[in-house]
Amino acid sequence: MQTDSALQATIDAIVQDGKGLLAADESGPTIAKRFKSIDVESTEENRRGWRELLLSTPGLAQYVSGVILYEETLGQCAADGEPLPSLAARQGIVPGIKVDTGKIPLAHAEGDEITQGLDGLAARLEKYKAQGARFAKWRAVYNVSDTLPSRLAIEANAESLARYAAICQAAGVVPIVEPEVLMDGGHSIDRCAQVTEAVLHEVFHALHRHGVALELMLLKPSMVLAGKAAARAAGVSEVAARTVSVLGRTVPPAVAGIYFLSGGQTPVQASAHLDAINRTGRRPWPLSFSYGRALQEPPLDAWRGQAANIGIAQQALLKRAKLNSAAARGCYAAKDEATA
Ligand code: 13P
Repeated sequence: MQTDSALQATIDAIVQDGKGLLAADESGPTIAKRFKSIDVESTEENRRGWRELLLSTPGLAQYVSGVILYEETLGQCAADGEPLPSLAARQGIVPGIKVDTGKIPLAHAEGDEITQGLDGLAARLEKYKAQGARFAKWRAVYNVSDTLPSRLAIEANAESLARYAAICQAAGVVPIVEPEVLMDGGHSIDRCAQVTEAVLHEVFHALHRHGVALELMLLKPSMVLAGKAAARAAGVSEVAARTVSVLGRTVPPAVAGIYFLSGGQTPVQASAHLDAINRTGRRPWPLSFSYGRALQEPPLDAWRGQAANIGIAQQALLKRAKLNSAAARGCYAAKDEATA
């Protein structure tokens, strides 16, 4: 089984104690929004420069074992001509690729969304592999209200995630399965727990139906949190307890690793929550980070599009990666924010 040994080698390279993933796979419109916040125009050269800055951060591989890239980045080169995926791989950071093509409204389900990108996926994976990608990511999004997501949205997105994961494994590419229950809205932590449990239950049911090997995939879930506009924000220990309780009820122990998204938490919250999750006791899976905003916000603020700021931006990234690495081992301390 050549494919299985390739998948296992990728899992072994990614799943390392105290290491997580850097999500740098923002689509065109999303990176434009991030750049706008620092007054930088989203040109191809600025996007290339920003991603080169991230990937060339000295020492990043101590804390980060993989990076999720966007299709455009996979074909871009560093200023010295080295392809960006090879720059990552040379440091010991496995390159991966976001393969979904974004979300659209789900027909006949007002307020729900469905993720697209299955057509032609097998052929695209061959191209991405030739460019150096060894793992992939697909994000399904669930809006939360008293009535959302609908059963239809839960089932349709689970089916797409499972089909994507099966296609990836058949191609020798490790799938990261990302069901994101959104933080937007005023829902309680109870409602988030209820939705997350239903979503994950359906996702693993679909993965089983499609014959996906759980040992050769990674899960990228959201944490169980109150909505951003909720009347009562949950405390750190409550978030940790509710998150591990929902995961324990729904995620089989065979899954190779759980890598959380940050989903709009502040960088400090995302570290504190991951740390508390890892302090809740023995769990069957490694629990680490696959953060986008929670890793990139501080370096983006430091950079502001200026070459002269590259060094301080890289320091800011390294600091967050180091703190999240400690959190992945349950060794983060808030006081280290001042000294890391
Ligand atoms: P955030 O950590 O900013 O949520 O991004 C992670 C990600 O990959 C979203 O798809």
